Amino acid sequence: MSLFERIDRRGTQSAKWDKMQDLFGVSPQDGLAMWTADSDYATAPCVRAAVRAAAEHGVFGYSWDYPEYKDAVAWWMQTRHGWQVDPDWVLTSQGLGNAIALSIGAWSEPGDAVAIFPPVYHEFANKIKKTGRVVTECPLVRDGETYALDLDEAQKCLTGREKILIWCSPQNPSGRIWTAQELREVSRFAERNGLLLISDEIHHDLILPGNSFVPTDVAVPEGRARTVYLTAASKTFNIAGLRTGNMIIPDPDLRATMQQCQRQIDYGASSMGVTMIHAAYSPQGAAWADEQITHLDGNRQIFDSGVNAIPGVWSMPLQSTYLAWVDFSGTGMAPEEFQARIRDTAKIAASPGPSFGSGGESFMRFNLAASRSLVVEAVERLQGAFADLQ
Ligand SMILES: Cc1ncc(COP(=O)(O)O)c(C=O)c1O
Repeated sequence: MSLFERIDRRGTQSAKWDKMQDLFGVSPQDGLAMWTADSDYATAPCVRAAVRAAAEHGVFGYSWDYPEYKDAVAWWMQTRHGWQVDPDWVLTSQGLGNAIALSIGAWSEPGDAVAIFPPVYHEFANKIKKTGRVVTECPLVRDGETYALDLDEAQKCLTGREKILIWCSPQNPSGRIWTAQELREVSRFAERNGLLLISDEIHHDLILPGNSFVPTDVAVPEGRARTVYLTAASKTFNIAGLRTGNMIIPDPDLRATMQQCQRQIDYGASSMGVTMIHAAYSPQGAAWADEQITHLDGNRQIFDSGVNAIPGVWSMPLQSTYLAWVDFSGTGMAPEEFQARIRDTAKIAASPGPSFGSGGESFMRFNLAASRSLVVEAVERLQGAFADLQ
């Protein structure tokens, strides 16, 4: 039996399935949820065993990000990413969305601007706006089958009010992995413009075969004094509901600022969050994560060959993540029309491209972290919804 079997999540308070009717108008009865970035299969057996042991123990009192937890984070970064992290650099957060909001609050003032490179994870812009800051978009440029940086153009987009640059590596929604050279250029761009760099690396374990990922700190160690690195086990191990992420902050002054912010809001680590991550960041967790990559690569191939067979539809070749970024511009349809076909005919709840900012207009994002059978079904439904183009 596959480790990545289909699990019916309907009626389990799954936001992805139980809110799809309200958010997307797609019924969970006969629809497929392919939007928010969590997975439809069970987490690693070592993580489940840790949860069972905690349930047997039966006491769920306060905990903290204890030394062995930080050691496990450092072990994972070293063995999986060749990144030497001092355990003292590790602070936990209530997930990375929370870490981003806290960072914006810590290192900018209302009315300041924050730069992002769209199309990019929609919550960057949302968090900037919700905290009373202004979004500065420095759009990525299309370069053949992927995206590239144009930092000369990006420079022209800056208004002089920016204090922070929020960077996504690997990139959501395109799956683009940035090279060490590109990371150096982004870091220098931030430095030239006096920007704190927030490097969101939440998808760093989801690297598809044939690709390699370099952490920003490994590529540009000299940028440490002005960079905050965000990592998590949540996407890798499907434990996002535990709402725990890591902020890795080598610079002591930046770290002290963040610790002060956390004290002000009385933040404390979630006991089950650290328990699960501690169990995940282990040799057993690593073996499961490798198996997951093989599974996701199979899903990606089936999805891409199926949707690319629809005239005018093109899935950007994925280097990382389980999020397929699909361009419908070749169909000649307005976004309302292809979105309606996906929603009403295919009955798939997927993430609309425009929510990712400039450059996302003709795209939809599909989450492939599911059983093989769900992905096959999704392809059949999409082919059916666009059958008149064949
Ligand atoms: C790039 C990126 N950052 C942050 C998050 C949110 O992380 P969390 O669930 O830890 O708040 C996501 C979730 O999809 C993401 O893709």
